[in-house]
Amino acid sequence: MDKFVITGGAVLQGQILTNGSKNSALPALAAALLTAEPVTLHRIPRVRDIRTMQRLLVDIGAKAEVEGETVRLHTPNIVCPEAPYELVKTMRASSLVLGPLVARSGRARVSLPGGCAIGSRPINLHIFGLEQLGARIHQSHGYIEAEAADGLHGAVVHFDRITVTGTEDLMMAAVLAKGETVLRNAAREPEVVDLADLLTKMGAQIEGAGTSTIRIQGVTQLGGAEHTIIADRIEAGTFLIAGAITGGDLAVTGCVPEHVGALVSKLQQAGVDVTQPNSHTLRVRGGARLRSVDMTTEEYPGFATDLQAQYMALMTQAEGIAIVVETIFENRFMHAQELARMGANIRLDGKQAIVAGPRELTGAGVIASDLRASASLVLAALVAKGETVIDRVYHIDRGYEKIEAKLARVGAKIRRVD
Ligand code: EPU
Repeated sequence: MDKFVITGGAVLQGQILTNGSKNSALPALAAALLTAEPVTLHRIPRVRDIRTMQRLLVDIGAKAEVEGETVRLHTPNIVCPEAPYELVKTMRASSLVLGPLVARSGRARVSLPGGCAIGSRPINLHIFGLEQLGARIHQSHGYIEAEAADGLHGAVVHFDRITVTGTEDLMMAAVLAKGETVLRNAAREPEVVDLADLLTKMGAQIEGAGTSTIRIQGVTQLGGAEHTIIADRIEAGTFLIAGAITGGDLAVTGCVPEHVGALVSKLQQAGVDVTQPNSHTLRVRGGARLRSVDMTTEEYPGFATDLQAQYMALMTQAEGIAIVVETIFENRFMHAQELARMGANIRLDGKQAIVAGPRELTGAGVIASDLRASASLVLAALVAKGETVIDRVYHIDRGYEKIEAKLARVGAKIRRVD
């Protein structure tokens, strides 16, 4: 199993390029199941979750050609409308094939995901939505079986709570349903908008993506399309924090500044100098004394839960007390104990983490528990005294493409060892 060995103290300087968004690429790949024509996607990040999704799509019947960051998918027929437990347990986003499969072939068999490191993460809202669209759902042997032999029909779906992949799944189901579907209390994340853009290029009729009400007029079939995935706002945010925590001067390019607006605001309140030299670059200059700033995670455009762990690492270096509240997932503080092993002063109290700083961190052996928790340990290690060894970095490989190479290029002392 790979590990990262990081020697802290380097000040990051230079330019770092953002990849395409993992969480945008995953539904975009699943959307290719909706048509018998080829779909070509550019700027697909080369991370493990994407490879898992490609494997799943090939098992279902897609032909996949990969060339660098471009993936071309062609699914003339759905051969096996199934997402097996072996894949779903390693990547919950596999449930994104549920909507496209029912819409295209009238049936789907998808394993229930089971437990997860950051919370229970059920898919009841995906199922509820599909039922509203006329699918008959049956659960047995750990699998959800959905059937709509005569096709889906439009309906009003009011989500009890905001769900990102739930909104995406239902949007993909509704594009081929008969009549109009209205999704209320829909997620407004940029990844939802990106998927709507792709589906529209394929011939779908969608209005309101990016707002909490999405209207979809079903069409009888979709065609092929070519689409470039948006920048990964969580990767960009992670690098901005890397620049800030090391007191560096880092330009994060190829990003969409608006998508990290909530983080930029917190960084500025904390005393970090953040400027926008052009439409796709943010420059972060640290070095000034960091102030503690409270933060609560929210759905977009609020502060992303996927940046909470990284922000907590930053707050260990800030003067004062920061109260970090996690509202999206019930168990997303696994990194706190590992940060504490490095010397951070963090007290957990239910949904809150109370971070007292600044504390000098010292290198230690730590374990990555999930994707974003791993990123926070990398950030903490960059400022820790001495050497940190992060175990189980396969978690980070799920969503960050060559993070060690990118950070090393801007001055970090980080290497991967087997
Ligand atoms: N929820 C339900 N029922 C459902 C669906 C969700 O109760 O049917 C709950 C979840 O348990 C959670 C909340 O609703 O408490 C929000 O979950 P959501 O469905 O929005 O999360 P997701 O769609 O499974 C995506 C990202 C996550 C990101 C969350 C929140 C993808 C592939 N994943 O997950 O990304 O944290 O939205 O923004 O888009 C990551 O990249 O590290 C990651 C975990």
